[in-house]
This record gives sequence, structure tokens and C-alpha cells, in this order.
Amino acid sequence: MKKTVVVFFVLATVIACKEKEAVIDPSQKKIVYDPDIKNIMFSYCLTCHSGSSAISGLDLSSYQKVKDAVENKQLVHFINNANNPMPPSGLMPASERQKIENWVQNGFLEN
Ligand code: HEC
Repeated sequence: MKKTVVVFFVLATVIACKEKEAVIDPSQKKIVYDPDIKNIMFSYCLTCHSGSSAISGLDLSSYQKVKDAVENKQLVHFINNANNPMPPSGLMPASERQKIENWVQNGFLEN
């Protein structure tokens, strides 16, 4: 009897975890820094945020630097802030912003 109960809870936990994963990333392919995020940075950010004259001293030209900007400079907040967005010319398409958020949620896969 006790064993049955334990088995039931283990199964329930396994199933619950699987469903949770599915919610985070339903059918989409895994987002990785190279090439997905790298291409977005190249298209929308590097004109201002790279090299020796990078604005705010913020350089977004490598995996480590982009990861650092997410963790310490609120990058995800800035790309979704409609009042003062990054890039300043206007919010990126939702699909591009979603890719960055998926990448962050899935633990910054490099390639
Ligand atoms: C046209 C130039 C330009 C582009 C393109 C641009 N930014 Fe910025 N960015 C700025 C300026 C100017 C600031 C500083 C002003 C501010 O904080 O509001 C800034 C600040 C930031 C900050 C805050 C840095 C800090 O130290 O507080 C982040 C994060 C950021 N940008 C991310 C991005 C991302 C990600 C992209 C591309 C999706 C991007 N920016 C594209 C001009 C730009």
C-alpha cells in the first residue's frame, strides 16, 4: 500500500515537471547565442554598443558581454520598455524579443 502511494507521487512529479518544460518552450527550436542572438545584436544594437566608443560603455559584441548585460544591466527590461526602448528607434518585433527571452530562460545556450 505505502509503495503504491510513493510510486504515485513520483509519477505525478515527473509528469508535472514535463508539463512545465513544455510551457516554457512549446514547439520552438532551441535559441542559441550563435547564430540567433548574435544576429539580433548585429542588426539592432552594435551600431551603438560596440567598440571603443560604445554608448554607456556597453559593448554587446560577444557571448559573455551580452550575458553580462542581461544579468547586470537589465537588458531584457530595456528591450521591452516601450517608453524608452532599445534600440531607441523603436521596439524590435515581438518575435525577436521573444527569442532573447527564451534564450535567457533556457540558461544562455552558447551554440
Ligand atoms: C542608436 C543608438 C543605440 C542603439 C542602436 C541601441 N542602444 Fe542601447 N543605449 C543607447 C543609449 C543612448 C543608452 C543610454 C541612455 C539610456 O540609458 O536611456 C543606451 C543604454 C542601453 C542599456 C543600459 C546600459 C546601462 O549601463 O545602464 C542597455 C542594456 C542597452 N542600451 C541595450 C541595448 C540593446 C540590447 C540594443 C539592441 C536591441 C540597443 N541597446 C541598441 C543607444 C542605443
